[in-house]
Order: sequence, then C-alpha cells, then structure tokens
Amino acid sequence: MFLFKKKKELIGIDIGSSSVKVVQLKGNDGSYQLLNAGILPLPPEAIVDNTLMDSAAIVGVVKNLVSSLGIKIKDVVCSISGNSVIIRKIVLPTMPQEELEDQISWEAEQYIPFDINDVNMDFQILSPDSNDPSKMNVLLVASKKDIINDYVSVFSESGMNLSVVDVDSFAIQNAFEANYDYNSEDIIALVNIGASIMNINVIKDGITLFTRDVQMGGNLYTEEIQKQIGLSSEDAEAGKLLAHESTNNQLLHVIMKVNETITQEIRRSLDFYNSTASDNRISGVFVCGGCSKVYKLIDTISEKIGLPVEKLNPFAKIKYIENDFDPEYLEEIAQFMAVPIGLAIRRVGDK
Ligand SMILES: Nc1ncnc2c1ncn2[C@@H]1O[C@H](COP(=O)(O)OP(=O)(O)OP(=O)(O)O)[C@@H](O)[C@H]1O
Ligand SMILES: [Mg+2]
Repeated sequence: MFLFKKKKELIGIDIGSSSVKVVQLKGNDGSYQLLNAGILPLPPEAIVDNTLMDSAAIVGVVKNLVSSLGIKIKDVVCSISGNSVIIRKIVLPTMPQEELEDQISWEAEQYIPFDINDVNMDFQILSPDSNDPSKMNVLLVASKKDIINDYVSVFSESGMNLSVVDVDSFAIQNAFEANYDYNSEDIIALVNIGASIMNINVIKDGITLFTRDVQMGGNLYTEEIQKQIGLSSEDAEAGKLLAHESTNNQLLHVIMKVNETITQEIRRSLDFYNSTASDNRISGVFVCGGCSKVYKLIDTISEKIGLPVEKLNPFAKIKYIENDFDPEYLEEIAQFMAVPIGLAIRRVGDK
C-alpha cells in the first residue's frame, strides 16, 4: 500500500510524536538482516495532533539519528496515521487492477471529504463481495497533499528524499507478518499504542478486515498523573516509567484507571469489528508501541477482553550480527520498533 512511490533502496523512518525511530534492513522474501536501528526523543511540542509543529526540531533529531548511525542511504519510507489519513473499505463493481487505477479518483470522490485534487490516493483490491459476486471489496487510502508535503520538506531539509509514504497500521501488519507464522484462518488484532495515538488493525490471511486509529496513548497517563497527584509533567512521566517498582498507591491507582480507559477503547473497536463481521471471531491480540510497556496494561487488556494478548516482537525473526547489536538493547527497544521495521521491509517487500 503506497500513497506515493518511486522505486529505490530505502530506510524506514518513523516520526512518532515522542521520538524518531530508524531501521535499515538487508535481504528479502521473509529473510531479513538488521543493519541499523536507533531511536531519539523529540521535544514534547514538536508534533501536536499529528501536525509537524516544529519542523526545525524534527529535522535536527532526524539528522542527528541518521548521522550517529552512519547511514548513507538517502531514500526514506515513512508513515502517517490518525487524522492525517483516511482509510475506507468500499464496495465497487469487479474490475481489473489497471482499470481501477484509471477510475479510482472518480470512484473515490464520494468517500473523501476533500477536493480530490488535494489528495494522494492508493487502493488495494481485497476480495470479492460475499453477498454479490459482481462486486469487490477495495481498501481505499487517501491523504491530503499538504500533509505529505510537510513530511517531504522535513526529509529534504534533513538531506534525504521521501520516496514512499505508508500508514502506521499497515507497517505494523508488515512487521507482524515478517516475524510470526499464523494460520490463514486466524483473525488477529494488532494494536500499536504510542504516546498520542493507538492504531488498531484486525487482519486475516494478510488482509485488513478492520482498521481504526484512536487519539489516545501514553500521554494520557502522564496527564492524569499530573492532574490527580499534582506532579510536574516530567515527574509524572518518570512516575509512569518507574511504576513497576513504585509503592505509591495513588500513582498505581491512576495508572490502573488509565489502563482500563485504554482497554475499553480497544474493546470498543474489537466489539465493533465482531458485530459487523460475518467471519469468525478474533483469536488473539498482539500489542506494540512504547505504551505497551506501561505497568500491568497488557494484563488488563487480556483480562478485560478475554483473549490471549502478546507483545509483538518485531525482531523475532530478524537476523543480526551479535558484535553489532547488543541483544539486551534490542529487547529494550523492541516495543518501539514495529513501525520502522515494517517500513524498512517495504523496500524489498513491494506489494
Ligand atoms: N518503560 C516504559 N513504561 C511505560 N511507558 C513507556 C515506557 N517507555 C516508553 N513509554 C511510553 O511510550 C510512549 C512512546 O511510545 P512510542 O514511541 O511508540 O510513541 P510514538 O511513536 O512516539 O507516538 P505516536 O505514534 O503516538 O505519535 C510514551 O508515552 C512513553 O511515555
Ligand atoms: Mg508511533
């Protein structure tokens, strides 16, 4: 799925609202080797509500990260999510890929709340419609050109070229599929919980059945700790990170409350999928994103949703040279790296 593409060797760069992550991989066809992986924090106000507010700060961090890793490749794949992107499953008359390429703008017009000339668009033909064989399900993906242009500028000011723009929830799916064998009948929910946004993607046999982004993540803990215990934002953030060794009942209480709020939001989406699905039910959940490290969040999700919940390890099947990477470091950063791993795979895994 590409909104915008030129063919080149790429590195994956995930500009999240709390940090920038970079991954470079070598290899193809399901066998990958890690060449580079790194992460650097962004200042708190650099990205607000999916908008690149302080592009100078972002450029500084991107340049710093890329040069500290000694990465020479200039072509980048990044991703967008939340209200920067519109994803719709639509039903169209069955037609070949090439024909739909010509017609997609026209077909898409009624689903996109912007002037069609202002958006970049892509689609993926999913399957024949189960009710009407003369129709097919198509996943439509669109983003406003001015949003894409903000990313183009950030990378060009960083001395690189933005070659592909992907979507966070599809990158997560790519990272999952490269690292886990799953039965083609299984329905899996992938949940990436970052600082400000949560991407939910329900998949079966390589296809998205349902996807939704919810504007909620790790920041909510920090805000609630600040508000309810009266701490500064730095102390609240530190309290959240160290909660597993804390004996402060008030802090633990706030964290458990927010765990429930986040879980409810996941549950609402999964219930919505289950209520509309003619297919079988979801059989398991994989979570990633920095917020999945929050004290007892995974336990709460598993308990309240009643499904097995596992951490998605994006390095599970990725090979690396032991002298180049400390396994403990990779384990430490694994929860943050599913999106950039999924992006870096795009280079070789063109769909
Ligand atoms: N050890 C930890 N325990 C709890 N929370 C953590 C831990 N480490 C990081 N986090 C939280 O994870 C979040 C960052 O995760 P991530 O890097 O996936 O987000 P992001 O990609 O920058 O943001 P987004 O995708 O939402 O824009 C922050 O809210 C941070 O406080
Ligand atoms: Mg993120």
